[in-house]
Amino acid sequence: MDFRHHISSLQALAGTPCDALVLIVTGAAADASLDAPLASALTDALAEGDLTLKAGKTLYLHRPAGVKAPRVVFAATGPDTLKAFRAAVVAGINAVKGSGARHVVVALAGAGRLTDAHAEAVVTAARECTYLYRHTKPSAAAASKLDTVTLVCAKADAKAVQLGLARGHAVAAGVALARESANRPANHCTPTYLAEQAKKLGKEFGLKVEVLDRKDCEKLGMGSFLAVAQGSTEPLRFIVARYDGAAKSQAPVVLVGKGITFDTGGISLKPSAEMDEMKYDMGGAASVLGTLRAVAELKPKLNLVCIIPSCENMPAGNAVKPGDVVTSMSGQTIEILNTDAEGRLILCDALTYAERFKPSVVVDVATLTGACVVALGHHHSGLFTADDKVAEQMLAASRAGLDPCWRMPLDEEYDEGLKSNFADMGNIGGRAGGAITAAMFLRRFTGKYPWAHLDVAGTAWKSGAAKGATGRPVALLTHFVLAQAA
Ligand code: BES
Ligand code: MN
Ligand code: ZN
Repeated sequence: MDFRHHISSLQALAGTPCDALVLIVTGAAADASLDAPLASALTDALAEGDLTLKAGKTLYLHRPAGVKAPRVVFAATGPDTLKAFRAAVVAGINAVKGSGARHVVVALAGAGRLTDAHAEAVVTAARECTYLYRHTKPSAAAASKLDTVTLVCAKADAKAVQLGLARGHAVAAGVALARESANRPANHCTPTYLAEQAKKLGKEFGLKVEVLDRKDCEKLGMGSFLAVAQGSTEPLRFIVARYDGAAKSQAPVVLVGKGITFDTGGISLKPSAEMDEMKYDMGGAASVLGTLRAVAELKPKLNLVCIIPSCENMPAGNAVKPGDVVTSMSGQTIEILNTDAEGRLILCDALTYAERFKPSVVVDVATLTGACVVALGHHHSGLFTADDKVAEQMLAASRAGLDPCWRMPLDEEYDEGLKSNFADMGNIGGRAGGAITAAMFLRRFTGKYPWAHLDVAGTAWKSGAAKGATGRPVALLTHFVLAQAA
């Protein structure tokens, strides 16, 4: 899909040639800025009650008089916020994406100015609502015909809009990559497949990609990661991909993504209901790859290292058992009390491995705990960090990328549940505050650099009728990484 900007006054919209016109309506006086045919249609629709200025409301007009575009959609934002603007673009494009329309023109009716954030939102919104999973369902309804989106802006805003379109393109491509790999079932999306995806990115963008196998991990002493992988016949992969955009001497940002391509729970087997959803347990890894793609496309002046420990968590005769004690790469021993708390076991060795890059900051991303879903639901990802500066940067990135996260506590008291009589720590605490205990476990491996953890168990995918991966938190991570260059 192509995204462009077009410098024009709103007074010329009725004469603009395109297949569909999506007009985002923010305020009551929006009609005053439009040219006569569109203004009268809008005034009339508002007066008759066919359209109200509430969030999510749209009105579709087919071949309205005096307008060149055969399709016009008015999409109301409700509140005048970036989030509401993006939601209105989604609603507007959803109204025309199934029609024959190829070229859609989007404009903001009213006096409001367009920023880079608006332009980014138009791109990510359009890509989000036209994404279609087809890999194992080629019979899926034909993809949308939409191939070009033009954003109308004033001359004074054109520079910002262009910047935003480019950033949106990169973020949207990263989100699409993350969604596609997470949606693929575990017999397609294996650790080997993830490694191939990383190598493909490496070729396309000139990145250094290294893939370690079991023997390599044994040499490194990754006893914890190896313990999770040992019950599966699917070979593990430990993926390290680097984007070098600055001098070697500059400390890199490191992203670590949980890459469990299927989580049965292992010997601590999960119930069978909805176990299929555990194919998304590599959502963290997918979002790290998506972010790498976005960053590689935008080429900021910084260094980025992406680390993905990837394997399956399976029950088997040779699988790790509750009570087994393993030695992590850090030298600390772990009593594996529950084999279903496997995410932290693969991440801890990756976090130790990250030390060799002397990072400026490390962020790990994982579908780590059901407890995080209970705590925050499906809207905010859980943010855990002891570093107030990193917390503020993450929260700012989540606002800028419209990809919300919420800071959770990391007080010392939460560490107590991890005590073990047989090892330096157990891998689980009690049920209460489970997302925090998991973060406290990871924290024990992150003493050498500033660190943040994102629990995306509730946000990386959706259940129910719209079941599928969301591509979160690619937008958050991309904004966070880009801000490290500024
Ligand atoms: N992958 C799951 C977490 C998860 C659960 C993600 C539900 C999305 C939806 C993780 O490996 C897991 O099983 N965690 C356990 C930890 C527990 C045994 C301490 C959990 O949350 O139940
Ligand atoms: Mn698990
Ligand atoms: Zn898991």
